[in-house]
Amino acid sequence: MRLSPLLFVASAMATLDLDLSSRSSIASAASSVAYNMMTYYVGNQTGQVPGILPGSLSCNPNVAGTYCWWEAGAMWGSLINYWQYTDDSTYNSIVSESIQFQRGPQNNFNPPNQSRSMGIDDQVFWAFSALDAVESNFPEAGGDNPSWLALAQGVFNFQTAYWDSATCGGGFRWQVYSFNSGYNLKTMGANGGNFQLSARLAYVTGNSTYGNWANQVWDWMYSSQLMTLSGDDLYIWDSTDTANDCTNADNLVWTYNYGTVLSGAAYMYNYTNGSSVWETRVQQILATTFLLFFPSDYGGNIMIEMECEPKLICNQDQKSFKAYLARSLAITALLVPSTAAQITPKLQATAQAAAESCNGGVCGEQWYLASYDSTTGVGEEMAALSIIGANLMDSSMIPLKLSTGATSTPDPNAGGTTGTTPSTAFTKTITTGDRAGAAILTILGSAFILGGVWWLII
Ligand SMILES: *[C@@H]1O[C@H](CO)[C@@H](O)[C@H](O)[C@H]1NC(C)=O
Ligand SMILES: *[C@@H]1O[C@H](CO)[C@@H](O)[C@H](O)[C@H]1NC(C)=O
Ligand SMILES: *[C@@H]1O[C@H](CO)[C@@H](O)[C@H](O)[C@H]1NC(C)=O
Ligand SMILES: *[C@@H]1O[C@H](CO)[C@@H](O)[C@H](O)[C@H]1NC(C)=O
Ligand SMILES: *[C@@H]1O[C@H](CO)[C@@H](O)[C@H](O)[C@H]1NC(C)=O
Repeated sequence: MRLSPLLFVASAMATLDLDLSSRSSIASAASSVAYNMMTYYVGNQTGQVPGILPGSLSCNPNVAGTYCWWEAGAMWGSLINYWQYTDDSTYNSIVSESIQFQRGPQNNFNPPNQSRSMGIDDQVFWAFSALDAVESNFPEAGGDNPSWLALAQGVFNFQTAYWDSATCGGGFRWQVYSFNSGYNLKTMGANGGNFQLSARLAYVTGNSTYGNWANQVWDWMYSSQLMTLSGDDLYIWDSTDTANDCTNADNLVWTYNYGTVLSGAAYMYNYTNGSSVWETRVQQILATTFLLFFPSDYGGNIMIEMECEPKLICNQDQKSFKAYLARSLAITALLVPSTAAQITPKLQATAQAAAESCNGGVCGEQWYLASYDSTTGVGEEMAALSIIGANLMDSSMIPLKLSTGATSTPDPNAGGTTGTTPSTAFTKTITTGDRAGAAILTILGSAFILGGVWWLII
């Protein structure tokens, strides 16, 4: 759609009121955005499936019916955070129903309808939301439903069985099942995701089995091509390929990968009672996070999804990525108090810019424009909700653990790894068009990287 000059002026002036000095103003802005985000959700209507987003929003335009399953899982987490930040419980029952409905028969977020395309990263995003519930004492679903903590432990118990020592010296493959496109890849989403899951379970339960596991995943990632230390900056790439024994990485950088690993390291720092090793890692990730995603071109404090946002080529998944970095930065500022002074100005300036990118509660993608770019979607809403809400996080919201008042009941043996044969009831075929789509995105991204990031390192 091309906007007429007059419309453009009008939309450029439209914004979302946000006064960062007033908690009620921040809460009210978050409420408008949450409301608009939920207009995409129809799972609570008669005949619809609870917990997922409509197929029309397909996260993969080449494959009908992928339902953005992982993104829906992340969305429930953003609403748990919203409840904690604002005390507004409007969406709590929908959130609770949704997470439990999609937990799958083995209570590990591998429901048969989705298992045909299940990725380790998809599962962890649901587990993160369950952990958000644990860490905030979000009301348990009750009845026969497993506790939030048991659901996260169920995912851990499932995933550890998929650690793959047979190729590249370890690590998780991206996809759970070998018939899926992308099974050959070992990705940061899968490995960083399991790392964060393990780190949070260690933090919440104090059980060193989880801490040891987080260390194992970190050590593999760090020794692999998925991470590159350059001076004091730690670069985190998206994927590496078992087909060539993981001898190189794709050199794509995404906010969510940095956020996933950053907050995982922050939990490990806090869990270890302030290990200097983990503090250094947090600082090294923060350094690259600031360098890549808060470019000085826009004042150095406004977050940008650099691979795709300037050209507006982000797909449905990617439009939501900034949400996870926003939340992770706020968590890191709490768990590693020495980082708060660096992080806070970025959360503030980015929230202000995000609000200026909205037209009322309908938010755009390019926050640095300080005007509405006329894009719209569930990812844009979630990202704006998370960065605005992050400014409400304070010391009363330190993630709870069992020793500091978290009430969710642990079940170290939750979940199960048997009977994981995916249902054929919902067969998803990955077409060549799909692979070509992925390749094109990679090439575009790589071209950008060649011009945009490699020079920083070489
Ligand atoms: C579904 O949830 C929305 C809130 O997101 C609410 O406005 C709507 O009334 C609900 N619909 C039904 C049928 O419960
Ligand atoms: C799986 O799909 C079927 C058919 O659409 C639906 O009835 C069911 O509720 C779905 N279950 C989940 C967990 O998505
Ligand atoms: C951190 O300190 C607490 C309290 O002294 C102790 O119980 C716990 O074992 C320590 N954690 C680690 C990982 O050393
Ligand atoms: C862990 O996080 C808590 C909550 O913010 C903080 O008070 C504490 O100082 C942190 N621990 C360390 C070792 O920094
Ligand atoms: C710690 O977690 C491991 C892995 O799930 C489990 O086998 C063990 O029983 C747990 N220990 C305690 C004390 O809960």
